[in-house]
Amino acid sequence: MKVRKAVIPIAGLGTRFLPVTRSVPKALLPVLSTPLIHYAVAEAAECGIETAALVISPGMEGVTAYFESHHGLEQALADRGRDDLLAQQRAIREAVEIVSVVQSEARGLGHAVHLAKSVVGRETFAVILPDDMIWNRPAALQQLMQVHREHGGSVIAARAVAEEVIPSKGIIDAKPIGERVHQVRGLVEKPALEDAPGNLSIIGRYVLHPAVFDHLAAGKAGAGGEIQITDAIAATIGEVPLSACEFEGYHADAGEPQGMLLAALHEAASDRELRQAVLDAIGDW
Ligand code: UTP
Repeated sequence: MKVRKAVIPIAGLGTRFLPVTRSVPKALLPVLSTPLIHYAVAEAAECGIETAALVISPGMEGVTAYFESHHGLEQALADRGRDDLLAQQRAIREAVEIVSVVQSEARGLGHAVHLAKSVVGRETFAVILPDDMIWNRPAALQQLMQVHREHGGSVIAARAVAEEVIPSKGIIDAKPIGERVHQVRGLVEKPALEDAPGNLSIIGRYVLHPAVFDHLAAGKAGAGGEIQITDAIAATIGEVPLSACEFEGYHADAGEPQGMLLAALHEAASDRELRQAVLDAIGDW
Protein backbone atom coordinates (compact mmCIF):
# COMPACT_ATOMS: atom_id res chain seq x y z
CA MET A 1 0.00 0.00 0.00
CA LYS A 2 1.12 3.55 -0.75
CA VAL A 3 2.81 5.46 2.07
CA ARG A 4 0.55 8.51 2.39
CA LYS A 5 1.56 10.14 5.67
CA ALA A 6 4.79 11.47 7.11
CA VAL A 7 5.71 12.49 10.63
CA ILE A 8 8.21 15.35 10.87
CA PRO A 9 9.35 15.71 14.50
CA ILE A 10 10.91 19.10 15.21
CA ALA A 11 10.16 19.59 18.91
CA GLY A 12 13.71 18.98 20.19
CA LEU A 13 15.58 21.64 22.16
CA GLY A 14 18.19 22.27 19.46
CA THR A 15 20.94 22.81 22.05
CA ARG A 16 23.69 22.48 19.42
CA PHE A 17 22.36 25.65 17.83
CA LEU A 18 22.24 27.79 20.92
CA PRO A 19 21.99 30.73 21.20
CA VAL A 20 19.82 31.16 18.07
CA THR A 21 17.41 28.38 19.13
CA ARG A 22 16.51 30.41 22.24
CA SER A 23 13.93 32.11 20.04
CA VAL A 24 14.13 30.62 16.53
CA PRO A 25 13.15 26.95 16.10
CA LYS A 26 15.93 24.90 14.50
CA ALA A 27 13.50 23.86 11.75
CA LEU A 28 13.34 27.49 10.60
CA LEU A 29 17.12 27.92 10.33
CA PRO A 30 17.98 28.40 6.67
CA VAL A 31 20.42 26.75 4.34
CA LEU A 32 21.10 29.92 2.35
CA SER A 33 17.52 31.27 2.11
CA THR A 34 15.46 28.10 2.59
CA PRO A 35 14.60 26.73 6.05
CA LEU A 36 15.22 23.10 6.97
CA ILE A 37 11.49 22.41 7.32
CA HIS A 38 10.91 23.56 3.73
CA TYR A 39 13.38 20.97 2.41
CA ALA A 40 11.72 18.24 4.51
CA VAL A 41 8.19 19.06 3.31
CA ALA A 42 9.39 19.39 -0.30
CA GLU A 43 10.94 15.90 -0.05
CA ALA A 44 7.70 14.53 1.39
CA ALA A 45 5.74 16.04 -1.51
CA GLU A 46 8.19 14.69 -4.06
CA CYS A 47 7.62 11.20 -2.60
CA GLY A 48 3.84 11.40 -2.91
CA ILE A 49 3.12 12.07 0.78
CA GLU A 50 -0.34 13.62 1.17
CA THR A 51 -0.31 14.60 4.86
CA ALA A 52 2.62 15.68 7.04
CA ALA A 53 2.26 15.77 10.83
CA LEU A 54 4.71 18.30 12.26
CA VAL A 55 5.45 17.52 15.91
CA ILE A 56 6.21 20.94 17.37
CA SER A 57 6.89 22.25 20.86
CA PRO A 58 4.75 24.97 22.46
CA GLY A 59 5.69 28.31 20.92
CA MET A 60 6.77 26.85 17.58
CA GLU A 61 3.63 27.99 15.78
CA GLY A 62 5.89 30.03 13.49
CA VAL A 63 6.82 26.78 11.79
CA THR A 64 3.23 25.91 10.90
CA ALA A 65 2.63 29.54 9.94
CA TYR A 66 5.37 29.08 7.33
CA PHE A 67 2.96 26.83 5.41
CA GLU A 68 -0.01 29.17 5.64
CA SER A 69 -1.07 31.75 3.08
CA HIS A 70 0.56 35.17 3.54
CA HIS A 71 -1.95 37.23 1.66
CA GLY A 72 -0.15 40.59 1.93
CA LEU A 73 3.17 39.17 0.79
CA GLU A 74 1.62 37.24 -2.08
CA GLN A 75 -0.33 40.31 -3.22
CA ALA A 76 2.84 42.43 -3.10
CA LEU A 77 4.75 39.87 -5.16
CA ALA A 78 1.90 39.77 -7.70
CA ASP A 79 1.84 43.59 -7.88
CA ARG A 80 5.58 43.64 -8.53
CA GLY A 81 5.33 40.99 -11.24
CA ARG A 82 7.47 38.55 -9.23
CA ASP A 83 5.63 35.51 -10.59
CA ASP A 84 8.64 33.26 -9.94
CA LEU A 85 8.68 34.03 -6.21
CA LEU A 86 4.90 33.89 -6.04
CA ALA A 87 4.83 30.43 -7.60
CA GLN A 88 7.50 29.27 -5.13
CA GLN A 89 5.46 30.48 -2.11
CA ARG A 90 2.28 28.82 -3.38
CA ALA A 91 4.01 25.58 -4.35
CA ILE A 92 5.32 24.83 -0.86
CA ARG A 93 2.10 25.65 0.99
CA GLU A 94 0.00 23.64 -1.45
CA ALA A 95 2.41 20.68 -1.67
CA VAL A 96 1.20 18.64 1.28
CA GLU A 97 -1.55 18.94 3.90
CA ILE A 98 0.17 20.13 7.10
CA VAL A 99 -1.16 19.08 10.48
CA SER A 100 0.55 20.00 13.75
CA VAL A 101 0.78 18.04 16.98
CA VAL A 102 2.24 19.59 20.14
CA GLN A 103 4.84 17.79 22.25
CA SER A 104 4.72 19.74 25.51
CA GLU A 105 8.02 18.39 26.83
CA ALA A 106 11.04 17.11 24.87
CA ARG A 107 10.91 13.48 26.06
CA GLY A 108 12.65 12.03 23.03
CA LEU A 109 12.16 11.33 19.33
CA GLY A 110 10.17 8.16 20.08
CA HIS A 111 7.77 10.12 22.27
CA ALA A 112 7.39 12.76 19.54
CA VAL A 113 6.59 10.14 16.88
CA HIS A 114 4.08 8.42 19.17
CA LEU A 115 2.17 11.70 19.57
CA ALA A 116 1.48 11.66 15.81
CA LYS A 117 -0.33 8.29 16.05
CA SER A 118 -3.73 10.02 16.01
CA VAL A 119 -2.86 11.51 12.59
CA VAL A 120 -1.24 8.38 11.14
CA GLY A 121 -3.69 5.68 12.29
CA ARG A 122 -2.81 2.01 11.58
CA GLU A 123 -0.93 2.40 8.33
CA THR A 124 2.69 2.33 7.27
CA PHE A 125 4.08 5.86 7.53
CA ALA A 126 7.24 7.83 6.85
CA VAL A 127 9.39 9.81 9.30
CA ILE A 128 11.60 12.65 8.07
CA LEU A 129 14.11 14.39 10.32
CA PRO A 130 14.80 17.79 8.72
CA ASP A 131 18.31 17.93 10.27
CA ASP A 132 19.41 15.12 7.98
CA MET A 133 19.61 16.80 4.61
CA ILE A 134 20.03 14.51 1.62
CA TRP A 135 20.34 15.67 -1.97
CA ASN A 136 19.40 13.10 -4.58
CA ARG A 137 16.94 12.24 -7.34
CA PRO A 138 15.17 10.00 -6.51
CA ALA A 139 14.91 11.45 -3.01
CA ALA A 140 16.22 9.37 -0.09
CA LEU A 141 12.68 8.69 1.18
CA GLN A 142 11.69 7.52 -2.28
CA GLN A 143 14.57 5.04 -2.21
CA LEU A 144 13.33 3.70 1.17
CA MET A 145 9.80 3.41 -0.25
CA GLN A 146 11.19 1.27 -3.08
CA VAL A 147 12.84 -1.07 -0.54
CA HIS A 148 9.52 -1.18 1.35
CA ARG A 149 7.70 -2.22 -1.84
CA GLU A 150 10.21 -5.06 -2.35
CA HIS A 151 10.67 -6.28 1.22
CA GLY A 152 7.62 -4.98 3.15
CA GLY A 153 7.82 -4.13 6.87
CA SER A 154 9.88 -1.16 8.03
CA VAL A 155 12.88 0.45 6.36
CA ILE A 156 15.50 2.74 7.89
CA ALA A 157 18.00 4.93 6.06
CA ALA A 158 21.64 3.99 6.65
CA ARG A 159 25.08 5.36 5.94
CA ALA A 160 28.57 4.10 6.83
CA VAL A 161 30.22 6.47 9.31
CA ALA A 162 33.71 7.03 10.71
CA GLU A 163 34.67 5.21 13.94
CA GLU A 164 34.97 8.36 16.02
CA VAL A 165 31.28 9.29 15.58
CA ILE A 166 29.87 5.79 16.27
CA PRO A 167 29.31 6.43 20.02
CA SER A 168 27.03 9.38 19.19
CA LYS A 169 24.87 7.56 16.59
CA GLY A 170 22.21 4.87 16.29
CA ILE A 171 24.11 1.87 14.90
CA ILE A 172 22.74 -1.00 12.80
CA ASP A 173 23.58 -4.70 13.06
CA ALA A 174 22.74 -6.06 9.61
CA LYS A 175 23.63 -8.44 6.81
CA PRO A 176 23.52 -7.40 3.14
CA ILE A 177 20.66 -8.92 1.12
CA GLY A 178 20.86 -6.84 -2.04
CA GLU A 179 22.47 -3.81 -3.59
CA ARG A 180 22.48 -1.16 -0.85
CA VAL A 181 19.88 -3.19 1.11
CA HIS A 182 20.51 -4.96 4.43
CA GLN A 183 18.40 -7.17 6.63
CA VAL A 184 18.52 -5.69 10.13
CA ARG A 185 19.25 -8.01 13.07
CA GLY A 186 19.49 -5.35 15.75
CA LEU A 187 19.81 -1.63 16.50
CA VAL A 188 21.72 0.04 19.27
CA GLU A 189 21.51 3.71 20.22
CA LYS A 190 24.88 5.40 20.95
CA PRO A 191 26.99 2.28 21.62
CA ALA A 192 30.49 2.32 23.07
CA LEU A 193 32.89 1.75 20.16
CA GLU A 194 33.84 -1.74 21.40
CA ASP A 195 30.14 -2.77 21.58
CA ALA A 196 29.19 -1.39 18.14
CA PRO A 197 27.96 -4.15 15.77
CA GLY A 198 29.28 -2.31 12.68
CA ASN A 199 29.67 1.16 11.19
CA LEU A 200 26.27 1.61 9.57
CA SER A 201 24.50 4.55 11.19
CA ILE A 202 20.78 5.32 11.21
CA ILE A 203 20.03 8.49 9.24
CA GLY A 204 16.80 10.46 9.62
CA ARG A 205 14.50 8.84 7.07
CA TYR A 206 12.22 5.97 8.00
CA VAL A 207 9.32 4.00 6.57
CA LEU A 208 7.68 2.44 9.61
CA HIS A 209 5.16 -0.32 10.16
CA PRO A 210 2.47 0.80 12.65
CA ALA A 211 3.60 -2.00 15.05
CA VAL A 212 6.27 0.54 16.11
CA PHE A 213 3.48 2.52 17.85
CA ASP A 214 2.66 -0.49 20.05
CA HIS A 215 6.19 -0.48 21.43
CA LEU A 216 6.26 3.29 21.83
CA ALA A 217 3.06 3.09 23.88
CA ALA A 218 5.04 1.48 26.73
CA GLY A 219 6.89 4.82 27.03
CA LYS A 220 10.12 3.22 28.22
CA ALA A 221 13.07 5.61 28.44
CA GLY A 222 16.31 4.51 26.80
CA ALA A 223 19.68 6.16 26.13
CA GLY A 224 19.94 9.65 27.64
CA GLY A 225 16.69 9.11 29.59
CA GLU A 226 14.73 9.79 26.38
CA ILE A 227 12.08 7.61 24.69
CA GLN A 228 14.03 6.40 21.68
CA ILE A 229 12.47 5.53 18.32
CA THR A 230 15.44 3.19 17.80
CA ASP A 231 14.36 1.00 20.76
CA ALA A 232 10.77 0.76 19.51
CA ILE A 233 11.89 -0.17 15.98
CA ALA A 234 14.34 -2.75 17.38
CA ALA A 235 11.49 -4.26 19.42
CA THR A 236 9.57 -5.04 16.20
CA ILE A 237 12.35 -7.29 14.88
CA GLY A 238 10.86 -10.77 14.60
CA GLU A 239 7.33 -9.33 14.26
CA VAL A 240 7.79 -7.44 10.98
CA PRO A 241 10.66 -7.40 8.46
CA LEU A 242 13.18 -4.61 9.02
CA SER A 243 15.55 -3.46 6.28
CA ALA A 244 18.22 -0.79 6.08
CA CYS A 245 18.66 1.17 2.84
CA GLU A 246 22.10 2.62 2.16
CA PHE A 247 20.63 5.51 0.22
CA GLU A 248 22.39 7.32 -2.61
CA GLY A 249 22.98 11.06 -2.28
CA TYR A 250 24.99 13.75 -0.54
CA HIS A 251 24.18 13.88 3.19
CA ALA A 252 24.82 16.71 5.64
CA ASP A 253 23.81 16.71 9.32
CA ALA A 254 22.43 20.23 9.51
CA GLY A 255 21.49 19.61 13.16
CA GLU A 256 24.88 21.02 14.14
CA PRO A 257 26.75 24.10 12.87
CA GLN A 258 29.48 22.32 10.88
CA GLY A 259 26.92 20.22 9.01
CA MET A 260 24.82 23.32 8.37
CA LEU A 261 27.87 25.01 6.86
CA LEU A 262 28.52 21.97 4.63
CA ALA A 263 24.85 22.02 3.58
CA ALA A 264 25.13 25.69 2.60
CA LEU A 265 28.33 25.00 0.65
CA HIS A 266 26.66 22.08 -1.12
CA GLU A 267 23.78 24.33 -2.18
CA ALA A 268 26.21 27.08 -3.19
CA ALA A 269 28.20 24.65 -5.34
CA SER A 270 25.26 24.21 -7.70
CA ASP A 271 24.90 27.97 -8.33
CA ARG A 272 27.52 29.52 -10.60
CA GLU A 273 27.75 32.91 -8.82
CA LEU A 274 27.67 31.53 -5.29
CA ARG A 275 30.22 28.89 -6.17
CA GLN A 276 32.58 31.59 -7.45
CA ALA A 277 31.96 33.69 -4.32
CA VAL A 278 32.96 30.72 -2.13
CA LEU A 279 36.08 30.02 -4.21
CA ASP A 280 37.09 33.71 -4.06
CA ALA A 281 36.55 33.82 -0.29
CA ILE A 282 38.63 30.68 0.29
CA GLY A 283 41.34 32.07 -1.96
CA ASP A 284 41.61 35.08 0.39
CA TRP A 285 42.10 32.94 3.54
P1 UTP B 1 18.11 15.61 18.16
O1 UTP B 1 18.67 14.41 18.81
O2 UTP B 1 18.89 16.22 17.06
O3 UTP B 1 17.85 16.69 19.29
O4 UTP B 1 16.67 15.23 17.68
P2 UTP B 1 17.55 18.23 19.15
O5 UTP B 1 16.85 18.65 20.36
O6 UTP B 1 16.86 18.56 17.85
O7 UTP B 1 18.98 18.94 19.06
P3 UTP B 1 20.17 18.99 20.11
O8 UTP B 1 20.73 17.59 20.18
O9 UTP B 1 19.64 19.48 21.43
O10 UTP B 1 21.11 19.96 19.47
C1 UTP B 1 16.42 14.58 16.45
C2 UTP B 1 15.08 15.02 15.91
O11 UTP B 1 14.05 14.65 16.82
C3 UTP B 1 13.29 15.77 17.22
C4 UTP B 1 14.23 16.95 17.00
O12 UTP B 1 13.50 18.15 16.84
C5 UTP B 1 14.98 16.53 15.74
O13 UTP B 1 14.22 16.78 14.57
N1 UTP B 1 12.89 15.61 18.63
C6 UTP B 1 13.80 15.22 19.56
C7 UTP B 1 11.58 15.86 19.01
O14 UTP B 1 10.71 16.21 18.17
N2 UTP B 1 11.24 15.71 20.31
C8 UTP B 1 12.13 15.31 21.27
O15 UTP B 1 11.73 15.19 22.43
C9 UTP B 1 13.45 15.07 20.86
